[in-house]
Amino acid sequence: MSPTLDSPVGIGGLTLDNRLYRAPLLEHAGEDPDATDRLVAELEPAAESGAGLVMQGATPVRGREGRAAPGMTGFDDPNRIASMRALTDAIHDHGGRIFCQLAHGGLRSMEVWHRAYREEHEIVQRTVSAPPWPLRAAEALGFLSLDARPLSTREVYDLAEDFGVAAERAVDAGYDGVHLAGATMGIFQQFLSPFYNDRDDEFGGSLRNRVRFFEVVHDAIRDGVGAEVPVVTKVPAETRTPWWIREHLTLEEGVRAAERLADAGYDALVPVTESPFWDHSIIRGAFPERAWDDERFVEGYEAAFGGPLRARLVRLASRIDARGNGFEPAWNADFCRQVRRRVDVPVLCVGGLRERDRMDRLLGDACDMVGVGRPFYAEPRLAARLLSTPGSAVVCENCNNCVVPQAAGEVGVCRTPEVLRERGRLEKAGAYDAGED
Ligand SMILES: Cc1cc2nc3c(=O)[nH]c(=O)nc-3n(C[C@H](O)[C@H](O)[C@H](O)COP(=O)(O)O)c2cc1C
Ligand code: SF4
Repeated sequence: MSPTLDSPVGIGGLTLDNRLYRAPLLEHAGEDPDATDRLVAELEPAAESGAGLVMQGATPVRGREGRAAPGMTGFDDPNRIASMRALTDAIHDHGGRIFCQLAHGGLRSMEVWHRAYREEHEIVQRTVSAPPWPLRAAEALGFLSLDARPLSTREVYDLAEDFGVAAERAVDAGYDGVHLAGATMGIFQQFLSPFYNDRDDEFGGSLRNRVRFFEVVHDAIRDGVGAEVPVVTKVPAETRTPWWIREHLTLEEGVRAAERLADAGYDALVPVTESPFWDHSIIRGAFPERAWDDERFVEGYEAAFGGPLRARLVRLASRIDARGNGFEPAWNADFCRQVRRRVDVPVLCVGGLRERDRMDRLLGDACDMVGVGRPFYAEPRLAARLLSTPGSAVVCENCNNCVVPQAAGEVGVCRTPEVLRERGRLEKAGAYDAGED
């Protein structure tokens, strides 16, 4: 019989109560002493309401270097990682499981794009290769500041070791698994993508070589955490690449990369289609007009993008980009299905999953688990509704008003009054009570 959302599932040696996970979303918990409390406040409701697995948002493994966005919680400091015990305990108290997501932004890091951040901190830009021409063009227009230092072969292994050290400490702090930020334009995707990777050592050239960074990171993590702890990664395919970019990671290469990663020992894969850029392709939906217009955030946009004119130009480019990346239900399902036919580890599908019935149809066909992202901002206890009610659907409208304020250092919350009113109505009707333990 085909599984449904409420059927148990195994990843590596771990059994999860059901097939619903909260996808990683930037929590904006920062690094003040109350960071762990903020993470508990943000993530506990998902476990409390029954989600089988919580994927924490990306945590950078190297100090101030490699941070993709403001407000991230670094997993470079052993004391900070140890303090996450309160978070992992809170999730476990509800019978849930939690994976941390380890990351490095490479050319997507704030030292490259965030004007105020790079003026405040002097950080060497560690990258896979020299920046490709579209990024150099963006620099010429004043949107980026590039001073890229491609990693030497030795430094690539050192970076892999940093992932291994962070993973070992995270597992000591109670995390049940490790999820690599293998896509969303981070450094893993930059190794994999011919758009970024121009290396001539063992990490560049053929697909086999471009996958190698994932392999050495996997081995560095295994050395620290052993064979039992699940290690999972996102796998990109750059099918949303603009027509004017010729070199990119094709779907077929994405499928082959996934096969290699399963062979290398990853316990589950999360195939995602996107572009080589950090754009609307990973958050398909509407252009967030309301959030751009919000007076409270304007100063933050200007600080991030380098003044009022550039902030307006980023807004315009984002509006154009959003037109080509409108919402599409379950937009990664076909890629997931193709990967699932070729690997024998669980495949996790995320992106535009909104209705319980569709989730049930995809399970056992395109994927083995389904991830839901933005709708958890709108309904922190969403899992209760989805798991208990066949035919249910999320209230999130994919307007993206929760996304762009994060560039200005604002927290990730639903900012759409009509959606919040609907959540209030559901709350009053007891729709989220089912998961109470
Ligand atoms: C504000 C925001 C932050 C995100 N942060 C991460 C992240 O840290 N790591 C990651 O792998 N994906 C991240 N994503 C992508 C989500 O995990 C998810 O793939 C995407 O939102 C599509 O799923 P959805 O349609 O259910 O929201 C983020 C998405 C959003 C909207
Ligand atoms: S602002 Fe609210 S409704 Fe809009 S995408 Fe974000 S969570 Fe969904």
